[in-house]
Amino acid sequence: MRSEIRTIYLDETDSTNNYAKSIAPYEKDDLLVIAKKQTAGRGRTGRKFFSPEGGVYMSLLLHPRLDPQRCEMITVMAAVATARALETVFRVKPFIKWVNDIYIDEKKVCGILTEGVFDPSGSKFRYAVLGVGVNLSFPKGGFPEDIKDTAGSVCESVSAEQKKRFIDRLLFEFYDIYENGREYMREYKARSNVLGKKIEYIKDGKTLVGTATDITDDGALTVKDEHGISYLRSGEVKICIDSIIKKGDFQ
Ligand code: BTN
Repeated sequence: MRSEIRTIYLDETDSTNNYAKSIAPYEKDDLLVIAKKQTAGRGRTGRKFFSPEGGVYMSLLLHPRLDPQRCEMITVMAAVATARALETVFRVKPFIKWVNDIYIDEKKVCGILTEGVFDPSGSKFRYAVLGVGVNLSFPKGGFPEDIKDTAGSVCESVSAEQKKRFIDRLLFEFYDIYENGREYMREYKARSNVLGKKIEYIKDGKTLVGTATDITDDGALTVKDEHGISYLRSGEVKICIDSIIKKGDFQ
């Protein structure tokens, strides 16, 4: 665990990922940015991430030696680390929805957004920002209308001490995988709430239905349908229930 990591604590910011990216050019070492709330938290595919007080919004500036094509693997490692930390600190049972979301009791409680900045050649990372947002406490005033059926919180309310323990544990678990090269794909798959399920996915602009059968070592979701096997490397999937798409499966 990198106990010496420099940490910037903010009461409020637009997005901790934006903040970390704005200072990244001046930082040689890894750095952590934590905010009590975000006014313009961002998710994947341009979505907003609701970020009121009571959650954890953190961005870790990294200088990965990974191949840039493996940027998504940082998200995968972080999903395993976050699930472990939630389980250890809050005694809950988290599931990972490929590729970057964590669910508890069928509600999304966490989203992960990794953004990589590459050398002009594109062959090396200049840096990457790993952003993790977790709805630890139930928000005062509830979740907004558009996500109220799909979003959930880990607990009704959490103490500052629990929040700190969670962040410390998450960092410990993440660095244990990221730096020590520990195996994590087996656990990522074991924690999946998508594998073995019928899913709706988009390929070449078409919406298709197939069964999620596996996740490859480079993080691609393997989907089988009547046309054969597809490997999804990005995008989102919806879980079907008996071919009926579960209402509002996304946050
Ligand atoms: C998603 O749900 O698609 C990913 C959400 C990622 C949210 C975190 S909160 C900390 C960091 N700052 C952001 O603006 N986004 C990430």
